Amino acid sequence: MEHDADGRLLDREPIEPPASFVAQANVRESGIRRTFEREWPDCWERAGDLLDWDRGYDAVLAGGGTEPPFRWFAGGRLNASYNCVDRHLDERKNQVAIQWEGRLGETETYTYLDLYREVNEFAVALRALGVEADDVVTLYMPMIPELPIAMLACARLGAVHNVVFAGFSASALASRMERAESRFLVTCDGYYRRGAATNQKNKADNARISLDHDVEATVVVSRLGDEMHLGERQYGYADLLTAHEGERVTPVARDATDPLFLIYTSGTTGAPKAVTHTTGGYLAHVAWTARAVLDVKPEDTYWCSADIGWITGHSYVVYGPLALGTTTVLYEGTPDHPEKDRVWRIIERNAVDVFYTAPTAIRAFMKWGAEYPARNDLSSLRLLGTVGEPINPRVWEWYYAHVGGESCPIVDTWWQTETGAIVISTLPGVDAMKPGSAGRPLPGIGARVVDGDGEPTAVGETGHLVLDRPWPGMPAALATGEGWASGGYPRRSADGWRYAAGDEATVDADGYVTVLGRIDDVVNVAGRRFSTMELESRIVEVEGVAEAAVIGGDDRDTGRAVYAYVSLERDYPGDDCLRARIEERVREGIGPMAIPEAIVFTPDLPKTRSGKIMRRLLEDIANGEALGDTSALRNPEILGEIESVVRRDPADEE
Ligand code: WT7
Repeated sequence: MEHDADGRLLDREPIEPPASFVAQANVRESGIRRTFEREWPDCWERAGDLLDWDRGYDAVLAGGGTEPPFRWFAGGRLNASYNCVDRHLDERKNQVAIQWEGRLGETETYTYLDLYREVNEFAVALRALGVEADDVVTLYMPMIPELPIAMLACARLGAVHNVVFAGFSASALASRMERAESRFLVTCDGYYRRGAATNQKNKADNARISLDHDVEATVVVSRLGDEMHLGERQYGYADLLTAHEGERVTPVARDATDPLFLIYTSGTTGAPKAVTHTTGGYLAHVAWTARAVLDVKPEDTYWCSADIGWITGHSYVVYGPLALGTTTVLYEGTPDHPEKDRVWRIIERNAVDVFYTAPTAIRAFMKWGAEYPARNDLSSLRLLGTVGEPINPRVWEWYYAHVGGESCPIVDTWWQTETGAIVISTLPGVDAMKPGSAGRPLPGIGARVVDGDGEPTAVGETGHLVLDRPWPGMPAALATGEGWASGGYPRRSADGWRYAAGDEATVDADGYVTVLGRIDDVVNVAGRRFSTMELESRIVEVEGVAEAAVIGGDDRDTGRAVYAYVSLERDYPGDDCLRARIEERVREGIGPMAIPEAIVFTPDLPKTRSGKIMRRLLEDIANGEALGDTSALRNPEILGEIESVVRRDPADEE
């Protein structure tokens, strides 16, 4: 295949999925999009049918489907923990549910029966500590089996979990607990990161102290195995299990529209935004897409490498695969420790069938070299997936050739924290693939690219990606129509309801969507999402800083990188000491993973006459591109003074 200078395929012949894959695919009806179109919204019954309901739903979508409220599976009652655990016992109680690969090379295996026991015991323990339905339980843990177990234990009680990524700082944890009014916390003593043990409980304790409200109970999992110092209202996880050994809790039946969990994500403002997902719609949507897009089968060993601290881990490490009764791999470590072939060894050792990861990881694999995957037997793989950011065709091809051996289809899945589950992707048993393009909207999903007036764009023209129909995995606030800021994107009331995703995209003649990136004040780096405002407000807290503008620039390794342009108070030296203080402030305020790749000191920031910072120009400078329109600038002379970016030493990454 040939490329132009940007790595785009010149020969854009679509690639058909291998016949051997198609023959066994879960979904291979070529007319499925038409069928769903004709039967919308009842087509989504196929997703609802993947679940066990305590009470069957009265309507797939109540309320007409054109304006909120949208009530998916209205009248239905179910329990997510029952659907992910109990119902599999009859057929596969001794099948592995969770295959854990620890940081130090150790492994642990939980069969569905093991999972059932431990989820029950922990649910009993949580209830004994006072957790009731609708209480928010914050889970602040790395990739250890106790995290999905705690999620499922909450779900069993009808409690709402609030997973906070383990790398977040104490103050980031505190603000998420504060906003959610969460009075219960499950954490661990610490965990290993790149050879060193980090103290997680310390961060959790600091967060708890700074809260305005009381925390009724903190449960601490021992990961490091050191002696634990438990304070008042703090309980050891293992002690609780022993105290409740063999006990059971009847799963609490929830309305389909009841919350299953909430998760904080970065919005366009400085404050993290809570997204609440529902029990019925969300679970049906993740189960259906895990089946139709990721082709998951109960007998598979399936590995999604995302951290459970983000939505991908919720949907495709925990809920989707477990709802389908498959074996899900949980990996605690990093891909290059102790060796750069760690990922391939895990695939070989477990004979992984389906592997789902992020373009940023694939770019790192590519940089390390094809010899690492080549050293291992990857012939068990049947399907590959990517998620989190656009994948460059050259990277796609490398993945296809060196990981998939040119015999595995790749699904490039577009979705967001807000969509809950995949909404744009090829169906691997139906559609041809076009490297770099996510594909068409899934059956039953209304997605289009529109211009500033809300009109569909012409083929190849850039516009805003919008979802113009409700979908089962939509957030609760979007479904009820309450409390959802619509943002400044095109939304013409005459056209009816639509959700603007905040992404720019193009559509080709076959309806394939190519996503270009965010258009709002959100930067996606290495599959993680940051609000530029949140970062800026941390940076300006540092003494000596006058103003800060944070932008997403291009980066060879991570795809996107966060760059901070900082102007200083008069006579303040812009030196490494100040740089270190800014980094420290971001680490404390958010977490090490949010530290900008580069901090550039500049005498002033480019501004319009009304004083608005022109981030676009900073992006152009950072990316070494020709400057866009500068006519609106009040201080054009500044442009010559802004240095190009000097990158930070990528030590201490989370
Ligand atoms: C943003 C959502 C969904 C899980 C991970 C991130 C970008 C996501 C793709 C893709 C191009 C993608 C978008 C989106 N994105 N998948 N396949 N191709 N871009 O979840 O943190 O909510 O971020 O990730 O920009 O808006 P998130």
